[in-house]
Amino acid sequence: MRVPMIAGNWKMNTTADEAVTLVRSMLPELDKIPGVDKVVCPPFISLVSVKEILRGSSVQMGAQNLYYEEKGAYTGEISPLMLTGVCDYVIIGHSERRQYFGETIGIIDKKVPAAVNAKITPIMCVGETLEENEAGKTKEVLMRQFASASDRVYFLSGMVIAYEPIWAIGTGRSASGAQANETIGYIRKLIAHQHGSDIAESARILYGGSVTADNITEIMEQPEIDGALVGGASLKADAFISIVKQTAEIWSAA
Ligand code: PGA
Repeated sequence: MRVPMIAGNWKMNTTADEAVTLVRSMLPELDKIPGVDKVVCPPFISLVSVKEILRGSSVQMGAQNLYYEEKGAYTGEISPLMLTGVCDYVIIGHSERRQYFGETIGIIDKKVPAAVNAKITPIMCVGETLEENEAGKTKEVLMRQFASASDRVYFLSGMVIAYEPIWAIGTGRSASGAQANETIGYIRKLIAHQHGSDIAESARILYGGSVTADNITEIMEQPEIDGALVGGASLKADAFISIVKQTAEIWSAA
């Protein structure tokens, strides 16, 4: 039985003070919700202060990125070693990083093992553009993104996959539950093909892209979908709490 996960990706939002205020405003309610892995991913500069606030609670924390080298002359980068003991998770290969920061499959290939070696669980993002979707190339794109960074060892260490169609991110145009379910089912088949059905059945695969308190129920009712990576709605305490609560209710009823 897979445990559902709701992860909030705060992206490049919140100052250090705002991050503390935001996590304080959601923590008491979030902490009480059972049966769901709850994760917040604040900007790097707020990781340490948010971690202090989360200490002793049931809410975990992720970083939004890392660099794959342990240390050295890489101005401006954050290494896995720096995140060890601070973060439980790290988002890797988010489409905004692929799109705006030139992150290639080759780079993501190095980041996933770097995270796993540092005992930080990757949340690896995959997904197609609108053009690829409309040209019927979704499966081909996923297969390519997925061929990389999909070692058996990563799955055994708990790696989470987030399917985020790029056309649905920040656009208010979420994939329908059925659409997301079909593609996530396909990803699970790819994992089964590579690593066998046990690993595929235990792998957690999230959906991401314009998830809100209004559409989470439709998404979570889908049998293949194990949770959500939430951007915009994770910056509003009420919305994020509602998303986690609805997820817990649907999962416990299933
Ligand atoms: P969104 O972002 O919920 O604002 O669409 C999701 C994501 O990029 O992870």
